[in-house]
Amino acid sequence: MYTYNRFVLPVAVTHSRTGRRKIEHSMITSDNHDEVSIAWRDIVYDVPVAVKPPPKKDGNAYDPEVSKTKRILHGVSGHVKAGEVVAVMGPSGSGKTSLIHVLGGRRETGVTGTFIINGKTHQNTRSLLQDLGYVTQEDVLMTTLTTRETLAYATRLRLAPRELDKSSSRAAAITAIVDRAIDEFDLERAANSPVGVVGQGGISGGEKRRLVIAMECVHKPKILLLDEPTSGLDATTALLVVNKLRSIANGEMGGHRAAVVTSIHQPRSSIMPLFDSAVLLADGREVYCGPTFTALPGGALSEDGIMGWLKDVGYPCPPFESPPDFMMDMINTRVEDEDAPREKNAANAAHDAAEGGGQPQIHDRSVVVKELTASWLTSPRRATYLRAGDDIASMDPSRAFGRSSFRRRSNLATWCTRFGALFSRTYVYKLREPSAVATQAVNSVLMPLIIGSIFFDLPLTVSGANDRLSAISLIVLMQSFAAFDQLLLFPKERGLFLHESNGGMYSTSVYYWARTIVESVTIILFAVVCACVSYEMFGLDDSADGRITFYFIITAVTMAGAAFLTMIGSLCKTFEQTNALAVMCLIVLMMFDGNWINRRNIPVYYRWLVEVSFLGYAVEAAVASDFKRHDFTCTARAVEEEGCVPLSGSQILRSLDFDPDMVWPNFWLLFGVTAAYRLVSFFGLHFFWTGQSFKERWAKLFESV
Ligand SMILES: Nc1ncnc2c1ncn2[C@@H]1O[C@H](COP(=O)(O)OP(=O)(O)O)[C@@H](O)[C@H]1O
Ligand SMILES: [Mg+2]
Repeated sequence: MYTYNRFVLPVAVTHSRTGRRKIEHSMITSDNHDEVSIAWRDIVYDVPVAVKPPPKKDGNAYDPEVSKTKRILHGVSGHVKAGEVVAVMGPSGSGKTSLIHVLGGRRETGVTGTFIINGKTHQNTRSLLQDLGYVTQEDVLMTTLTTRETLAYATRLRLAPRELDKSSSRAAAITAIVDRAIDEFDLERAANSPVGVVGQGGISGGEKRRLVIAMECVHKPKILLLDEPTSGLDATTALLVVNKLRSIANGEMGGHRAAVVTSIHQPRSSIMPLFDSAVLLADGREVYCGPTFTALPGGALSEDGIMGWLKDVGYPCPPFESPPDFMMDMINTRVEDEDAPREKNAANAAHDAAEGGGQPQIHDRSVVVKELTASWLTSPRRATYLRAGDDIASMDPSRAFGRSSFRRRSNLATWCTRFGALFSRTYVYKLREPSAVATQAVNSVLMPLIIGSIFFDLPLTVSGANDRLSAISLIVLMQSFAAFDQLLLFPKERGLFLHESNGGMYSTSVYYWARTIVESVTIILFAVVCACVSYEMFGLDDSADGRITFYFIITAVTMAGAAFLTMIGSLCKTFEQTNALAVMCLIVLMMFDGNWINRRNIPVYYRWLVEVSFLGYAVEAAVASDFKRHDFTCTARAVEEEGCVPLSGSQILRSLDFDPDMVWPNFWLLFGVTAAYRLVSFFGLHFFWTGQSFKERWAKLFESV
């Protein structure tokens, strides 16, 4: 095949496992201190399950019936050395993502086994965090930033904890890194286009994948982990992506050689020789680990490797069948399915026969998978493979973390640099989303204008006092909802936040403060605009003191509302949950703000809601500040028809059960609840819906910036 010859053979031959390559290998590693090799041994990964899995009838040592956990990985071993690309293959649900997660330190609870990193045994891979590149299956990108900006921010965040040794300025160094990445990953054409969404004017799928990989390579990782980087790409683009991985492993991307582990779902034949080794999983068990192929004298490739092993155990690849497809077909049934009714297996066989490519003689593939996993465990090939990884244990541990071109800076400096980068990124991102800002602007001007035109220039009469209360309560209500977009902030950005913070780019506090401060600037600005417009339209007390108090209270309630909505967003997983919960809470809090029901008439079992309603604090403060400055008169008609008596503002306040002296105390209360909501949302963001256990997250809370 043309592509095979053109793209694959030269690369594969260069990196084939010949004696020559082995010599090169030892030469390079002996004087290069920037390389890392890692072996993982007997990795078992259990997750807690809410529902008991169905009982198993066989004599398996692991019995889910008595266990409240589900075993995802059943003692998987393997290794990757600097300069190698290892493919983790297997059908969907076989544990590829889980293995990558575990290797990347994204899952620690429930994981047992050991990791040998350059001669040192660890219980996890946490020590590698700053040297790790981690590409997730979903794209986690900010859609309105351009490719170049995305890379520049990734570089700024990545290089924050370290300082370039060279005396060149930081900005110049970052530009140089970005330019090189754009060049190396062929992103010139997409450099200045917004990332966008595929199919809606964004950069192409292949470019996006390359961008994500480039982002993870700006800090020259020693280990690069990728989860299905080729899924969703066409065959040629997939080949180009894997070729890039090959170059990264080879150190062709300007630097040391990296150890690359990538999961791959359905590799095409020409991709296979690009992998040094393959880890084949089925239902979380090893089916094969070892070299993908064996090099023959003269640079040719033999299919001995995975295909050789399958042949050994009695499943030779039929002629005209693509080896990877054959291999995936062999293991594409889960072990659990063994109790499936006979018809299903017959149907499978019929389906295979209809497709013309399967093995009609194999009726039950789950039996085959069991047979393969069992014979693999005792296979001499496995023993040889494990022995090949044992030399990692005798490597020099100082190598991994020894000489580095970067130097660590103090925590405070790091925090500030990262904060600066994130602040700028969030700010740029926000400006590029004009619709959100425009909606806020319209709301803060148009709504007070409409409400103000209804409650225009309120008279200082006893009957008008009620309207004042309503008008103020309406503005407070509107402002506490004003930052409704905050509700979706964390559900929307959680993926990006988790990816970047888990990757050691920043701590939760950096992200949280950058986000909060950028949002607060617009919130405060629009709150003041709204307060000015409504104050003048309502014709409230004409004094500077009255105005300033009102502005402060409206701003404070807007901030409290935003904090409240952010908190709900941080505690809920989906948009639907957040919406439902927020609307319900706000309506309940609104009911007890003192306008809808007189506080004296609230049933005793609901009184506590008055104490927690931040809308109530604001209404009481704003109404008290205004009312106590006035005396309310009666019109001649009201005296005649209703027997109206003039009342002082304080009297009316008392009839509403509002305390005239609670203006500033209530302001500080608003301040206090804002702080409390912020604190809860910080912890919510850090602990909830992270896919990691509380214990893991707790440990991460105290990690450095
Ligand atoms: N946290 C979890 N809780 C329950 N089951 C899980 C969890 N994580 C993974 N699994 C299950 O483990 C299996 C392997 O998942 P995964 O590693 O995502 O497979 P792959 O990436 O190969 O498709 C799947 O059956 C999946 O449902
Ligand atoms: Mg997966």
